[in-house]
Amino acid sequence: MKAVMTSGWGLSAKLVVEDRKAPARLGTNDVLVQVHAASVNPKDWKLNYHLAVLATPLFIKKISPIFGDDLSGTVIAIGSNVTDFAIGDAVYGMDMRLRTASLAEQTRISQRRIAKKPAKLSFAQAAAMPLAALTALQGLRKGKTKPGSSVLIIGASGGVGCFAVQIAKAMGAHVTGVCSNRNSEFVLSLGADAVIDYTQGDYRQQVRPFDLVFDVTSYETPLTCSKLMAKNGYFISTGGDGASMFGTPFYRLLGKNAGTVVVESYREDLEELAALVESGKLTPIIDSQFPLSESEQAYARSRTGRSRGKVVINIIGDA
Ligand SMILES: NC(=O)c1ccc[n+]([C@@H]2O[C@H](COP(=O)([O-])OP(=O)(O)OC[C@H]3O[C@@H](n4cnc5c(N)ncnc54)[C@H](OP(=O)(O)O)[C@@H]3O)[C@@H](O)[C@H]2O)c1
Repeated sequence: MKAVMTSGWGLSAKLVVEDRKAPARLGTNDVLVQVHAASVNPKDWKLNYHLAVLATPLFIKKISPIFGDDLSGTVIAIGSNVTDFAIGDAVYGMDMRLRTASLAEQTRISQRRIAKKPAKLSFAQAAAMPLAALTALQGLRKGKTKPGSSVLIIGASGGVGCFAVQIAKAMGAHVTGVCSNRNSEFVLSLGADAVIDYTQGDYRQQVRPFDLVFDVTSYETPLTCSKLMAKNGYFISTGGDGASMFGTPFYRLLGKNAGTVVVESYREDLEELAALVESGKLTPIIDSQFPLSESEQAYARSRTGRSRGKVVINIIGDA
């Protein structure tokens, strides 16, 4: 089968398409998926860099060199304990391994980490969802979002932000998105009640009581955003780098409701997201699409940090 592999570790590593053996053995709870589409997350290329800096060669060996976390596709084989999925089912999801290895024609994944693909979505749209939409859902939950909450989403136009705006609205929140001017109309079209253009001065100095500041960019801290947080308000970061990932929880020592969301993949959450899609409250936004052979260009697009929604890689054509 064709698979997209990293040529090595570090930022200079390139992605190459290689012929690999399809997964031969399935665990009792695994399914084998014919992958139709996958999507790109900053995690993939950041992991490649951080591992090069931090990890021992022995640890690196345990991680799949095949890229990709999100997938959508068709089940083509099932393990002996799989009862909820059958051959031919269209599914979407991501694994909890450090890499799902979804940038390949076939991959195996635990039945606990997939759900039925929402019927109204194409495979490309479904592949755009798992990691980013789960992060948005779990971050908003961690920030105790409820009907009437005022929520500020910093980074509202990107992969996670597009989902966070729509899910927060579905939860009944009043949503303000932080984005650049070029994305203001777009973020309003997702359902945000208001937008703040981060290029027009330091909005963080304006005193505004938000019940939740959800920093998707992970550039901020509870201190830089202290004027934006209501008394007893929450600050949740996606922890996109080591400093915000491990540093944010320490602000609890200063009496702040601060935390980092570390995304987890559960079928129940994927089903909740699918129900939001089916009810018309959630639509994945695709920034751009690439064929498998142009995966390097897809990752280059993600590395610009300018994508609006998700970058998708089609493994089987899906127009
Ligand atoms: N902890 C976890 O489990 C987890 C899970 C998912 C993601 N993450 C992390 O979350 C971060 C965001 O991921 P993503 O997939 O949403 O990234 P992304 O799609 O690459 O985000 C790109 C978007 O960010 C916007 N942006 C850039 N600078 C901004 C700023 N200063 N203020 C507001 N918006 C800004 C860009 O809009 P403009 O071009 O208009 O600036 C663009 O639309 C990454 O660091 C990622 O590693 C962590």
